[in-house]
Amino acid sequence: MGKAIVRNLALAVCALAIAHPAVAAPLRTSATAKGLLLGVAVDMTPFRNEPIYSETLRREYNLLVAENAFKFDALHTARNTYNFTDADALVAFAQANGMAIRGHTLVWHNQLPGWLTGGTFTRDEVIAILRDHIMTVVGRYRGKIAAWDVVNEAIDDATGQPRTSSFWAQRIGPDYITMAFQFARQADPAAILYYNDFEAEGSGAKSDGVFNLVRGLVNQGVPIGGVGWQMHKINPFRISAANHSNAQRLAGIGLEISITEMDIRIQLPSDAQELQQQALGYGDAVTFCLAEPNCAAVVTWGFTDKFSWVPGVFNGFGDALVFDASYQPKPAYTAMQSVLEAGQGGTCTTAPAAVANLTATAISSSQINVTWNAVTPPPNCSVTYTFHRSTTANFMPSASTLIASGLTTTSNLNGNLAAGTTYHFVVFAVDAAGSSPIARTSAPTRGGGGGTCHVGYTIVNSWPGGFQVALSIQNTGTAAFNGWTLTWSFPGAQTIASLWNGTATQNGPGVTVVNMPYNASIAAGASYNDVGFTANGPAGTPTGFAINGVPCN
Ligand code: XIL
Repeated sequence: MGKAIVRNLALAVCALAIAHPAVAAPLRTSATAKGLLLGVAVDMTPFRNEPIYSETLRREYNLLVAENAFKFDALHTARNTYNFTDADALVAFAQANGMAIRGHTLVWHNQLPGWLTGGTFTRDEVIAILRDHIMTVVGRYRGKIAAWDVVNEAIDDATGQPRTSSFWAQRIGPDYITMAFQFARQADPAAILYYNDFEAEGSGAKSDGVFNLVRGLVNQGVPIGGVGWQMHKINPFRISAANHSNAQRLAGIGLEISITEMDIRIQLPSDAQELQQQALGYGDAVTFCLAEPNCAAVVTWGFTDKFSWVPGVFNGFGDALVFDASYQPKPAYTAMQSVLEAGQGGTCTTAPAAVANLTATAISSSQINVTWNAVTPPPNCSVTYTFHRSTTANFMPSASTLIASGLTTTSNLNGNLAAGTTYHFVVFAVDAAGSSPIARTSAPTRGGGGGTCHVGYTIVNSWPGGFQVALSIQNTGTAAFNGWTLTWSFPGAQTIASLWNGTATQNGPGVTVVNMPYNASIAAGASYNDVGFTANGPAGTPTGFAINGVPCN
């Protein structure tokens, strides 16, 4: 499924854009214009029950894949019984909405039905079952599926060698891979046949293992056309040079690639800075796929944080997708949109508007955080921000310190400031056509102190005789806190009843927190939020926070 075929979808896309005037430029409009397939995995429950789910899906994407509905256990419920209800519904939806379809997946060691894994079959019978499965499923949708993930995750994570413990390897032997591609080609002469895997996107043993496998298939004339990169990642994630080299070596053996299951999970609760970091990873993926000629598609594993496999599988992680749980676009969405819209349809001729809501907030005696609203890029433009600082009020940017330019985030943490001094900031937006008017703000750093920490103390719940507190411990200095101890004094007779993630010792009216069990070090500039407690006594705010004996400010 090269980029060219996507242009055939353009007509349907225009009609949809007009039908939804509230959204200026859905992702699929610009993706289609750029020849990129942009897709998501679809979860049947909201697909059937939440209109906003399918509305968002058809509005924003030009490709879909079933999260589970095309898997062996979902389709092939007994040896001679198939259930196509869900799969047919997805195919009908995609066709009605001018969307391409990826088929996922024919041969995998997971999500196999009990009748198969528990059955007593000879090798020939297992081959016959595999053939019947592929001929029936691929044959049913012949001509309707752009690409099939024929074999999924056949390379062992640790060794980069073929996985030998899988059902198919055990019952058929290593040839099952070749057979599966050949059956799929017999069933559909046109679909692009993929090998799909995770953590094989860049360099390393597994990427090499996948490369060796698919090169072997190509050399034997097995009808493989592409390699899928799942891209289940942890924030912060950026595309690297290794991704480009890997794409290029696959292009060198005639294979296309697709990003097939992307998500970037964040340890919960996520904060604004992490969502901005996540946006960089998603923007990168689109930039990457547009830049590499053999990259056909970017597919995310769902689109709303309301429905994602992440929280159920990666304990404590979530917020991995591009719409939040209320279907509102996250920074990740905007990042993909700006990449897709950059340079589209001509040159950038309009300078951007001034940034609004420029706000500076002192974080410590040496740090201020400055935030602003994102400027909507004018047509064909791609906006970045320039950030200046001075100790003089109403300064002009030309007579000041340039702190940063080319920023794609809408905040900047500015450090190494003098305690108690008022700083003035100017921020403006820049694109190819020029600069916006400047926006100004100023704020004093916190006075004195000299410490390098700040503790956020939020009473999240209280009841007669007790209360619960969430702490946010910020390292505002330039050195990491390793193995830190936090102390404070309660205003009255409060005592700690229980503490999350650590041990507390009561020293008279003060409390000491020691030995955080994991993630105990806090890098310079970072925060640690996974700590809080339940206390006995009247709700109250302590004084005298200190880390390792040095007072915070
Ligand atoms: C996951 C689904 O998201 C879950 O709903 C299901 O319970 C398990 O499978 N690699 C793959 C996908 O190829 O099929 C997996 O999907 C995620 C990892």
